[in-house]
Amino acid sequence: MTKIKVNITDRKNKKHVLEGEKGQTLMQLIDKHELANPYGICGGEPMCGTCHVYVEKEWLDQLNPKTSEEELAIDNASELKENSRCGCQIDLTEELNGLTVTIGPNENQI
Ligand code: FES
Repeated sequence: MTKIKVNITDRKNKKHVLEGEKGQTLMQLIDKHELANPYGICGGEPMCGTCHVYVEKEWLDQLNPKTSEEELAIDNASELKENSRCGCQIDLTEELNGLTVTIGPNENQI
């Protein structure tokens, strides 16, 4: 199976290079490797906004547009920026190989 490389900076500013799989969401990949907690607590409904990531600007156009459900969920996150997205709404595809994101802040963060 083709691996999709994703560059992720965690909430402590540590960089990770993970390999995801097609069919997995970015939230699932981050959660599997326990890079942040709390993270993805609604399981991708989307409702919670804890899966907040900042997407490097060059990748924004490659993502599917935000749904109204994602707009509502991301409002629960803090320090929103133009490039804020819910990780659970980003489906990993081969086109996203090299995707670069930073996990958004959260209270009680690790
Ligand atoms: S996991 Fe809850 S909104 Fe993404």
